[in-house]
Amino acid sequence: MYELKISQVEELLSEVPNFIVNQSNLSAFIFNEIHDLNWVGFYFIRENYLLLAPFQGKPACIRLPEGKGVCWESVKRGKTVIVDDVHEFPGHIACDSDSRSEIVIPLFYNDIIIGVLDIDSPAKSRFTQDDALFYEKCAEILIRKSEVEKFLSYYKS
Ligand code: SME
Repeated sequence: MYELKISQVEELLSEVPNFIVNQSNLSAFIFNEIHDLNWVGFYFIRENYLLLAPFQGKPACIRLPEGKGVCWESVKRGKTVIVDDVHEFPGHIACDSDSRSEIVIPLFYNDIIIGVLDIDSPAKSRFTQDDALFYEKCAEILIRKSEVEKFLSYYKS
């Protein structure tokens, strides 16, 4: 089911290497192509917080303080985290009260985690291991197709 979508993502992210353009279009693609989602977007690691980047959905928390919430859990573990019910996750940061389940995928650049792709659903237990594989592939394509360093030097300022 995801094969066609993966080739569409490859194509969508091939036109320009600008990382902001590609984050914007990838979040819009996922938000519109996958059912039952209420938020899709990116956060990048700063000194002691994650900073909001391009997304689709309601306005979100700008900074996520280090050590708290699902996004930081994914950074800490260095792998994808699926939360079936965010109400049961201690320290979950609720940016949109509609969110019920969540998946967070770490973004690796040169083997270092630079940020996350965060996806929320209003449905409980919305995300499966197959979904995780698809979103991990999207993250890999995004990093491979984009000039990450240019963005990171700008985003530090
Ligand atoms: N729920 C996330 C915060 C980001 S919002 O979902 C957009 C967390 O607990 O880290």
